[in-house]
Amino acid sequence: MSILVFGSLNMDLVVRSPRLPLPGETLTGYNCATIPGGKGANQAVAVARQDVSTRLLGRVGADDFGYQLRQALAIDGVNVEAIQVDAETHTGVAAITVADAGENHIVIVPGANGRVGKDELQQLQLYLASADLLLLQCEVPAEMVAQAAQMAHEAGVRVMLDPAPVPDFDLQPIYPAIDILTPNQVEAAQLTGLSVTTVDEATVAISQLQQQGVSTVIIKLGEQGVCCGTVEETFQVPAFPVSVVDTVAAGDAFNGGLAVALSDGKALREAVVWASATAALSVTKSGAQPSMPTRSQVADFLKASK
Ligand code: RIB
Repeated sequence: MSILVFGSLNMDLVVRSPRLPLPGETLTGYNCATIPGGKGANQAVAVARQDVSTRLLGRVGADDFGYQLRQALAIDGVNVEAIQVDAETHTGVAAITVADAGENHIVIVPGANGRVGKDELQQLQLYLASADLLLLQCEVPAEMVAQAAQMAHEAGVRVMLDPAPVPDFDLQPIYPAIDILTPNQVEAAQLTGLSVTTVDEATVAISQLQQQGVSTVIIKLGEQGVCCGTVEETFQVPAFPVSVVDTVAAGDAFNGGLAVALSDGKALREAVVWASATAALSVTKSGAQPSMPTRSQVADFLKASK
C-alpha cells in the first residue's frame, strides 16, 4: 500500500492575532513562528502519521527553509528522495494570520513550487506502478497537475484532487481522470459559479460537477460537515464538535485521512467519517504539519465519540 503526493512545500510564517485585520488596518499580534506547511507536504504528513507509506514529489529552493522542510518530512517518515532542490529560486513561503477564533488568512509565494514541471512528472511515471492513490492539490502549476492526473488515471491509480487554490486554468477537461474531487465551499463556488454555503446548495454544486465528468465529489463545509456525491447516492457527514484552536491545514488533514481510509479498504462513507475525525483533531492544535494526528489518535477519538 503506497500513496503518492504531487504538490507543494511551504515554510509557513504564522502570526497569531486577536482577529483578522481589515484591509489597511494594522493589528498587534502576540506570537510568530515558522512552521512546515504547503498543501502537498501537509497531506503527505497526514498520511505518514497514519502509518501508510508516502512519497512526496515536489520542489524546494537550495536554502535553509528547503533543508528544514525536507528534514521535517523525513522525520515524519515521508519519502523525500524525489524532492528536487532548485538553485534558481527560493523555497515556497506562506504568510498566515491565525485569529483567536481559529480562522485564518493565507497568502502564498510559490517560489520553487511554481517551477514544478517535467522532472517531477518523469519521477511520477517511475513511481506510479507501485502506487494505490495519487493526491493532488493546486499550489504547483495547474498544467502539471492536469498531466499528473492524466498519467495516474492511465496507469489505473486512483486520483484525488483538492482544487486548492482554484487555478486560473480550466480543470474541466481533466475531470474524467479525477476519482474524487474535494473542494471546500469557497472552491466549489469558484468552480461552479454557484453559491455554496449550505448542504442544499452543495448538493446542487455536486450535481453540476458530476455532469461535467467527476465521479465522486466531496464538498468540505467546515462546521456543517461534508457533503458527498457518488454516482449512486448523495449523503452528508456532520462535523465532530471540537474546540477550535487553528483551522490551518484542516482540509489537508481531511484529504490525508481520506486517502488512508480508502487505502485501508474502507467504504466511502466510513472513509469520510475517518477523514472528518482526522480533520477535527487537526483543528485542536496549532500549525499545519504539527497538527496532524496519528492513526491511534484518530481511532481513539472515534471510539470516544460513539
Ligand atoms: O492548507 C494549508 C496550507 O496552505 C498551509 O500550510 C500553507 O502553506 C498553504 O499552502
